[in-house]
Amino acid sequence: MPRPYEEALAAFWHPVAFSRELNERPLAFRLLGVDGVVWRTASGVAATQRYCAHRGADLCDGEPVGEGLRCAFHGWTYGVDGGCVRVPSQLSAPISQKARLAAYRCAERYGLIWVCLSATPSAPLPEWPELEDGALATVALPLLDWDVSAGRMMEIVLDVAHLSWVHRGTFGNPEQQEVPAYDVERHASGLRTRIVYPALGPSIGGAPPRVDKTTLTYDVTLPFSVRLEFKPTLFYTHTVYAVAQPLSEEKMRCFYFCSYHPKIRNFGEMFVKSELAILEQDRRIAEGQRPKAHPLGFDGEVHVKADRLPIEYRRAMAALRLGQAPDDPRME
Ligand code: FES
Ligand code: FE
Repeated sequence: MPRPYEEALAAFWHPVAFSRELNERPLAFRLLGVDGVVWRTASGVAATQRYCAHRGADLCDGEPVGEGLRCAFHGWTYGVDGGCVRVPSQLSAPISQKARLAAYRCAERYGLIWVCLSATPSAPLPEWPELEDGALATVALPLLDWDVSAGRMMEIVLDVAHLSWVHRGTFGNPEQQEVPAYDVERHASGLRTRIVYPALGPSIGGAPPRVDKTTLTYDVTLPFSVRLEFKPTLFYTHTVYAVAQPLSEEKMRCFYFCSYHPKIRNFGEMFVKSELAILEQDRRIAEGQRPKAHPLGFDGEVHVKADRLPIEYRRAMAALRLGQAPDDPRME
């Protein structure tokens, strides 16, 4: 039997904010139906349940103090482990064991704040070392709040056959409707595929757009992260990172950013403008799909060879829900 959605995904790291959004004020987040709060401590970042154990005040109105977070209502202060360490109204009395918040694992990496709701994460954060050596520039899109499940969003990003249909008018090439056979590599933390796609470049000065054979490398880290490298022949390589935060089984928010060579002038502005147009094409299709929750099985829909990558992703997510390794051969 597959484990319930929230339970199976609680043991993974999920993004809840861009680092730049988290300043001196605590920040609310929603993850897998849980309301939480993150804040900056003297030594890093911390996350707990959002509402105070005393009278349910919103801890987003509170204030970080040293390692802890102080509630705005009566000044109770909680440590990063969720335990209350100070009750100002009766300083000399022992603090009740019940004065405690649920505390979550919290980390900061790749310009994102990540939370794991379980005490023991079952997988590490994605490995994207190129984002940490300082050689690349990055640019982020505004948050993508789509009314769709994180799994459906992942499947549309991984869908090879939709490029020539959904992305007409941006980079999709309507002349290339057939999908040549491609392989998908499975590994312990996800999937990897490489395809070559004859993308259409932007039309310059009214001239017809040029076909640019672009190598697309998809690297999936389960459950909801994908790194997608675009290697065109006429332009520079850039890499897109899409990381979804599952707010619930049917709704997600996506953190979407891109790395590129810092010498490409105006790349950031160009990227944001063109990518928002491309993603709007995806959003309209994805939000219309039913069921909204990511199907775990294969019975309700029809699958063809061209869907290989989304099929492999669905298979891996089904394994995850069953508590099996994504490259488990029993999932054939
Ligand atoms: Fe938070 Fe009273 S409600 S200290
Ligand atoms: Fe798309």
